[in-house]
Amino acid sequence: MRFSEDFIEKVKDANNIIDLISQHTQLRPMAGGYMGRCPFPDHQERTASFSVSETRQLYNCFGCHKSGSIFTFIQDFMGLSFPEAVEFLASRANISMPEDPGPGAAQQDQVTRKKKAIIQINKLALQYFTESFRQLSKDHPVRIYAEQKRGLTAQTISDFQIGYAPKEWDGFARYAESKGANLSVAEEARLIKRRQPGDSYGDGYLDIFRDRLMFPILNQMNEPVAFGGRIISQGEPKYLNSGETLVFNKGKILYGLSQTAKFVRADDQVLVVEGYMDLVSLYQSGIHNAVAPMGTALTPDQSRILSRLTKNVIILFDGDEAGQRAAERSLPILLGADVHPKGLILPDGMDPDDFVKSQGAEALTQLISTSPDLFSMVLGMWLRGYRGEASDKVKMSNLLQPVFAMMQDQRLKRLYLQEAAEKLKVEENWLRDALRGTSSKSGSYGVNNSRITLAPAINTPQQPQPDKNYTVKSTENSVEIVSLKGATKIEATLLGIVLKNTCNFEYFQKMSGMEYLMHPGVREVLAKAANAYRQGPDKFDKLAGLLTSFVDCPELLFSETFALGPEVAEKKQKETSEKPENEVAKGLDNDFAIDIAKENQKEKQQETEKKLLGDCLKRLRDQFLKAQADQLTAEIKVQSTPEKLEKLMSIQRDRLAINKEP
Ligand code: UTP
Ligand code: MN
Repeated sequence: MRFSEDFIEKVKDANNIIDLISQHTQLRPMAGGYMGRCPFPDHQERTASFSVSETRQLYNCFGCHKSGSIFTFIQDFMGLSFPEAVEFLASRANISMPEDPGPGAAQQDQVTRKKKAIIQINKLALQYFTESFRQLSKDHPVRIYAEQKRGLTAQTISDFQIGYAPKEWDGFARYAESKGANLSVAEEARLIKRRQPGDSYGDGYLDIFRDRLMFPILNQMNEPVAFGGRIISQGEPKYLNSGETLVFNKGKILYGLSQTAKFVRADDQVLVVEGYMDLVSLYQSGIHNAVAPMGTALTPDQSRILSRLTKNVIILFDGDEAGQRAAERSLPILLGADVHPKGLILPDGMDPDDFVKSQGAEALTQLISTSPDLFSMVLGMWLRGYRGEASDKVKMSNLLQPVFAMMQDQRLKRLYLQEAAEKLKVEENWLRDALRGTSSKSGSYGVNNSRITLAPAINTPQQPQPDKNYTVKSTENSVEIVSLKGATKIEATLLGIVLKNTCNFEYFQKMSGMEYLMHPGVREVLAKAANAYRQGPDKFDKLAGLLTSFVDCPELLFSETFALGPEVAEKKQKETSEKPENEVAKGLDNDFAIDIAKENQKEKQQETEKKLLGDCLKRLRDQFLKAQADQLTAEIKVQSTPEKLEKLMSIQRDRLAINKEP
């Protein structure tokens, strides 16, 4: 969807910058405009150096040099993208969003209305939960839990609108009904569910959240889109989260950000913690620049939201196994979102909440300032027990490949390459070659060669540019695009054949083809294929078609003969021109004969494909072994040992055997 110039103008006209900014700082009229203290929290000044011009509808801070229009102000202050800022300001001025003239317009309108209704009922629930908390007596176990056991102050409870879902079967259902709300919307908001038929209490609805401390999850416009509820005593699950709804997708929202965006922007740094309590506890201790993906590793969507606010992302991990895995998973995602991630593992298995409670905020800030690059942290984890055998080196380069493939910042990439080569005890050139995979097409490794890219929207700066139409890439519709760029001819051909039918795919699996694939995009697509295959032939048949919008070179999905070198293409050409219809079907003109001819043709075609597939796999295996052999040769040049020589010979024997295969 695009906002027209007219629409942007209309939104701009309807929001006076003086009103807007006055909500966040006190402005006084001065000659030529208004002045006040800078509303951005990093800039705590005693003298007013923030000026706003009503005639030009612009702001400028002489102290911290932030400047711009209503749109940039909202983007920076609330951490919104440009289209989101437009939407926010339109809704602030009661301007309805432009009608999408597309075919789905009416339907879209219905979805918008549904979303609004869900948010409305969430607001009602928020009110119910906060009111219920307020009504708790001083000695109620829940109040004691929140205030004494977890140490939450009244201010924090109010800042985060923390509430309580009472211990009742249908407390909210009845409350909502009494307010005239539509219960089927409450059901869709995943706040209540229908009683099972035959329930001894009759039909009607049950609350989903019962006897839990409630954390509302707010979107960037400060609207409640979901809830997380913590159990008070023991039990499972510890946290119950709202299910996905039209307005809540767990991987696309960060808990706390609606409150903390302005601090993140101001500090030019964000701390990523795991969950609700960590974030709230840090905030209360005075550390305001944090966010929490709710219990899972950061997703590309979440990373992109952060990268709009700051490049300095520091992830605080619990010191357990799960924390380590989260670190590994986050690394390529963050590098792909073009941020400069650092990582910190807290000591003694503490989480950030435990740490600030026992050591204080200052100690945490101090520790944070020492945190290493996430790359170095993860590399260090991978290198535990590393002995520098040739196979270890190849293995490490395989681990590193997807990480390097995602890196957006070329300067960072060069430095990390140096660092990795040093720690792996390999030549930088060898590592660069190894990371380049088997691609022989281009001399450069990485970015345009073999990365899994994210949707282009991710890296498109969404700054307002006057006098233009703005392309709006909605966060909700963005998908991860798998890049097939830099796939070798062999890999591309293989992809086309394998995706064509289950028969080819089965053969590919039987030959353990996956093991020899080096290109991360091709690997990913074929992993998706394996998944579709498990789900049944129907899913598999539709796969190639479906994938076209998820890869950057869709033509490769259908490219059986895609430049597999002139010899093979020629051979294939010859074979297809010998199609039986040219010989058999010609003089016979009844349907039956044509069917037979088609059947024959199909069989022959399948045979050809199988041959081609076999060829590709052979070459892939050979390339895989060659990479290992090259590495060994380089090592032997430096220091030769009988073991290395023996290994090299064995690899060479395998290669010879492959090439002798019929
Ligand atoms: P943790 O188990 O580390 O809990 O889960 P915590 O944040 O330290 O919580 P407290 O201190 O015991 O209260 C981290 C995050 O994982 C998600 C939540 O977002 C939680 O904040 N989580 C955890 C769930 O969604 N469900 C669960 O059952 C557990
Ligand atoms: Mn905790």
